[in-house]
Amino acid sequence: MSTIILAIESSCDDTSAAIIKDGVILSNCIANQEVHKLYGGVVPEAASRAHQINIVPVVDAAIQKAGITKQDIDGVAFTRGPGLIGSLLVGVSFAKAFAMSLNIPMMEVNHMQAHILAHFAEDPKPPFPFLCLTVSGGHTQIVKVNDHLEMELLGQTIDDAAGEAFDKTGKLLGLDYPAGPLIDKYAKLGNPVFKFPEPQVGELEFSFSGLKTSILYFLKKQLKENPDFIQENMNDICASVQDRIVSILLKKLKLAVQKTQIKHIAIAGGVSANSALRSGLENMGKEMGCATYIPRFEYCTDNAAMIAVTGYFKFLKKEFVGQEVIPVARWSV
Ligand code: KG4
Ligand code: ZN
Repeated sequence: MSTIILAIESSCDDTSAAIIKDGVILSNCIANQEVHKLYGGVVPEAASRAHQINIVPVVDAAIQKAGITKQDIDGVAFTRGPGLIGSLLVGVSFAKAFAMSLNIPMMEVNHMQAHILAHFAEDPKPPFPFLCLTVSGGHTQIVKVNDHLEMELLGQTIDDAAGEAFDKTGKLLGLDYPAGPLIDKYAKLGNPVFKFPEPQVGELEFSFSGLKTSILYFLKKQLKENPDFIQENMNDICASVQDRIVSILLKKLKLAVQKTQIKHIAIAGGVSANSALRSGLENMGKEMGCATYIPRFEYCTDNAAMIAVTGYFKFLKKEFVGQEVIPVARWSV
């Protein structure tokens, strides 16, 4: 007998649904929300309303693309947190109603665990234990992954996340939200000629708020002398910002490898789509004799395939939750 699971992701500004059959992803559909571009960041109220509009068509599309019917589904996995409560509520409520109507079990999923388990959506799968640098719009963490559902947080950011550093810098440069992919694109055409300071924090801790402030003061000073400084130097500024963020991330990951002696290293989360981080990790792996694991591009940013993989492992262990479950804004791995 095969196992088919529907997975729902609605923690931030993407509505996503996926179908997994016996651990193999059959579909992964995502509706992005354009409305936030107008405001330069995610507006929670607008995100929640857009999820309400998108959720039924996205689930329908995932079921159709997988070539199954609703009646074939054996369980529903959903993101319970961490994330925006209004956004999570839509996915959680939908999952509860769907599970109740078909009388099938539900699996709650931690979004940050799921980013890491995206590595199990296809081969090569990292062996346990491995280290994962999880970098997204809300989190920056180094996690020791002992098993599919057993993870230890070794260090994290004390202020902004790496994705936030990309997005907030992009806003200073007049770029659309989310600025991460744009900075990545412009950085390819420039050189890291501007030097920004490195934060002084604990060994496996990160800090990005000081970087944002130093970039702000740098731009203010340059713009006083040349009002066209940003337009004339966009590619080099982006290359410099990206170089600093990526070097901070990899330096801490290197330290975690030295401390734990774990030789399998992975990246996950939206910022792991960054081309400099991806190539930087590969180089670091070669230098340190480590095997590196990088998720396929579409499994880096928010998606329901990663929720499906996590839900599948929970289904196998019969880790179900009841209708009393509620979303949570904060939830550690
Ligand atoms: O994991 P994710 O999709 O959502 C959260 O859980 O937060 O991560 C979104 C973050 C945003 O900050 C976005 O700017 C960043 O990932 N991001 C990138 C790239 N693609 C997405 N940052 C740098 N380079 C990229 N190519
Ligand atoms: Zn995410």
